[in-house]
Amino acid sequence: MILAVAVLCSIVLWTHCLHFTDVQPQQDFDLQQFAGEWYRVGIAYETPAFIKYKDQVMTSKGLLLPNENGGANLTMWTLSKGCFPNFYVYEKTDVPGLFTYFSQRHKMMKDITVVETNYTEYGVVLKYKKMDKEYTQVALYGRTPVLRPELIEKFRSFVLSLGFSEESIAVPVIKGISEALEENPCPFTEPR
Ligand SMILES: *[C@@H]1O[C@H](CO)[C@@H](O)[C@H](O)[C@H]1NC(C)=O
Ligand SMILES: *[C@@H]1O[C@H](CO)[C@@H](O)[C@H](O)[C@H]1NC(C)=O
Repeated sequence: MILAVAVLCSIVLWTHCLHFTDVQPQQDFDLQQFAGEWYRVGIAYETPAFIKYKDQVMTSKGLLLPNENGGANLTMWTLSKGCFPNFYVYEKTDVPGLFTYFSQRHKMMKDITVVETNYTEYGVVLKYKKMDKEYTQVALYGRTPVLRPELIEKFRSFVLSLGFSEESIAVPVIKGISEALEENPCPFTEPR
């Protein structure tokens, strides 16, 4: 069955399909340890619009707080774009490291999988594991805005293995990094 679907995908629906891989969350995922501040250091998104404008993608900063229902609230800011945070509420599922949320942009439920993290340095997060070019994104998060090149390379290999193209991967370079971070107009002290 899986083979049949994969073949169908490659012939008929190839424009929408990435590879079928049953991506599992990090084993023994611990939300408390994963909580806190993260920078989105890399992102892969296989849509023409993203690929066209990916050079303009900026590093984002996020604050993840465990919420009252066992899920997490995420506030994301794009650095140097002023203080217009995006806010997401991730609902917990029965599987630790797997969350769901309602995407306002696409008006549908999406899932979020924390694929791998060591909590203190990096995290790889997959959005929409059904692997659709339109909806699936993979992000590399760092506790610092710049990560070791080995981690960027590991992220790159992982997304390529899922069927993303080289062009779909953005690793924004922060110019004047210390100023951008020190003058962040949206300090973390007032999450909503
Ligand atoms: C998470 O967001 C919900 C909805 O906005 C809010 O009611 C709740 O208090 C928030 N929890 C935390 C811990 O920020
Ligand atoms: C995560 O990686 C960093 C850098 O290699 C290391 O210092 C840290 O101990 C690791 N954390 C865990 C929990 O393994």
